[in-house]
Amino acid sequence: MAPRGSTAAGTRTVVVTGAGRGLGLATARRAGEDGYRVVVAELDAERGEKAAAGLRAEGLDAHAVRADVADPGSVTAMAREVAALGPLHGLVNNAGLADAVGGKEFHEIDVAEWDRIMAVNARGPWLVARALLPQLIASGGGRVVNLASDAALYGSPRLAHYIASKGAVIALTRAMARETGDHGVTVNAVAPGITEGESTERVPAERHELYRLNRAISRPQRPDDLTGIIAYLLSEESRYVTGQVIAVNGGFTMH
Ligand SMILES: NC(=O)c1ccc[n+]([C@@H]2O[C@H](COP(=O)([O-])OP(=O)(O)OC[C@H]3O[C@@H](n4cnc5c(N)ncnc54)[C@H](O)[C@@H]3O)[C@@H](O)[C@H]2O)c1
Repeated sequence: MAPRGSTAAGTRTVVVTGAGRGLGLATARRAGEDGYRVVVAELDAERGEKAAAGLRAEGLDAHAVRADVADPGSVTAMAREVAALGPLHGLVNNAGLADAVGGKEFHEIDVAEWDRIMAVNARGPWLVARALLPQLIASGGGRVVNLASDAALYGSPRLAHYIASKGAVIALTRAMARETGDHGVTVNAVAPGITEGESTERVPAERHELYRLNRAISRPQRPDDLTGIIAYLLSEESRYVTGQVIAVNGGFTMH
């Protein structure tokens, strides 16, 4: 059987934003293993180049493109580079500020910090999807997967700006799904729980403990616990699933 990302017309591309490390890198690796050409769209150019080189060393078809999802000009330039790589199949809106964002109660957060989180986490996925939608439609349809967070479902304290941004991602997922269904484009969100990685190393021990005690599956969550559902949402099998939010958190939240 041909790999998923290959068609008679050639290899199709999946763009993963923020794929220089963490969940994005794991997602890019899995998409590459599924046969897609992957674009590591990353703010930190050196990190993105290194990640793409690592994926190529594993035999995968990976390209690094520097992109700041909060900057409309940078997103437009990235979309042009993506177009040059051939037909676009998917976008994983993964880039987000998740590292050391917590700790303040909502009345202590200042406006600049609020705006920075919203610009990257909420406006970013919209800007990138807006720039790439014409390519998804031109290639006959495709898939958008947005990284939300179960913090927005649970209502974690001392993370109000982050939670609001991820709530916006969930609402945006639904809005985009309504508008793109008849273009053959599905849009879904995945809401991870607290996942092992660089971004969660500084999360306070009591928050890890809260998750451990309240998950149905108490072991820690790893990035590769998420890649299967994202692979499914990028695949042909998910063609009739759209506008959904899928919590992947060992049953920490159930709804
Ligand atoms: N790790 C978790 O526990 C967890 C839980 C729920 C949701 N999430 C979400 O999953 C996504 C990935 O999380 P992670 O833990 O892998 O984060 P991470 O901090 O390890 O990686 C994020 C990557 O995005 C890049 N990035 C940051 N700002 C960017 C921008 N403006 N443009 C392009 N790239 C940018 C960073 O350079 C980094 O390489 C985020 O959206 C996060 O909110 C993570």
